[in-house]
Amino acid sequence: MKSIVSAILLTALSRVSAAPASKTTTAIGENPIVFDGRIPPLFRSEKFDSYDTSPYNAEYVLGQEPWSKVIHFPNVEDSLFDVPLNGKSLTVTINGKSIFAPGGNPQTGFRRSELLPGPNSGNDITTNGVTTHHFSLRTDNTRPLNYSHEYQPVFIETQDYSSHVWQIKIGTPFGEEWPLEDAKTIRLYSSSTSNGPYELFRTPFTTDEWHNFAIETDWVNNKISAYYSSGLSPLEQLFPRINNDASGKGQFHIGMLKLPTGPVGIDVTKEGYQSKRPNEGITYGGIFIEDTSAGSVTLQPSV
Ligand SMILES: *[C@@H]1O[C@H](CO)[C@@H](O)[C@H](O)[C@H]1NC(C)=O
Repeated sequence: MKSIVSAILLTALSRVSAAPASKTTTAIGENPIVFDGRIPPLFRSEKFDSYDTSPYNAEYVLGQEPWSKVIHFPNVEDSLFDVPLNGKSLTVTINGKSIFAPGGNPQTGFRRSELLPGPNSGNDITTNGVTTHHFSLRTDNTRPLNYSHEYQPVFIETQDYSSHVWQIKIGTPFGEEWPLEDAKTIRLYSSSTSNGPYELFRTPFTTDEWHNFAIETDWVNNKISAYYSSGLSPLEQLFPRINNDASGKGQFHIGMLKLPTGPVGIDVTKEGYQSKRPNEGITYGGIFIEDTSAGSVTLQPSV
């Protein structure tokens, strides 16, 4: 039975390989885009406050101020995948009012402002088959981070909120003391500290340039692969598909989540130290999710 299947596969593959295009140079739009969070040039920040006009969730994850106060449009060059539509970059900020209170229960240990794709309830088109989450990020030099703290700027939180499918972290992990050059680093982590490698990739969070990522999740076979570039260079694959638990499905968070500092063992959601008036931000661009079930990830806006 197996050999029949592979014979069929081989025939199919040889037909594919006769096509001139290489499998990894798909232009944006050739794969179905299951969520487009890129911001058109005339978009006003008030549009983030309403479900009718925002591609993102209008209510979560936010403190006491609406998105129109939390998001700023910085004057920087377009990120890799914003180039085709002259899309707007957006800076997601936190300040002293960025205290999320789910069910009226304030998370005083955290400062949070995180965008979630509108259609992403936790088990939906963005967590089906094989999907690839694209985003670019850069420092906001007018609202610098405090690298003594841990930040979780981008991650997929499992549907039951108990863990992550993958996670980006910047800064000093809670409970540790790191020199600045280690802390000022973007790190990609897998789903778990116990199954296979935990830290999958790191690169210095250099200022004044875009850091572009595409993280591919195979929701059926529990795999991850990742792509990266800086500036306007095409993405390059960092590692081929490896095992990673994606069974919890989940929601894509993109923005600012700042942990407190303090002794190990405290409840970080409620306790620990946060400065009184933080004014910090991270700038994003080129956010979209593509269905890459067909086998190719978009590495640049067009070929
Ligand atoms: C950065 O965070 C550390 C640890 O919480 C704190 O002691 C320090 O005052 C902060 N620095 C600034 C500039 O806020």
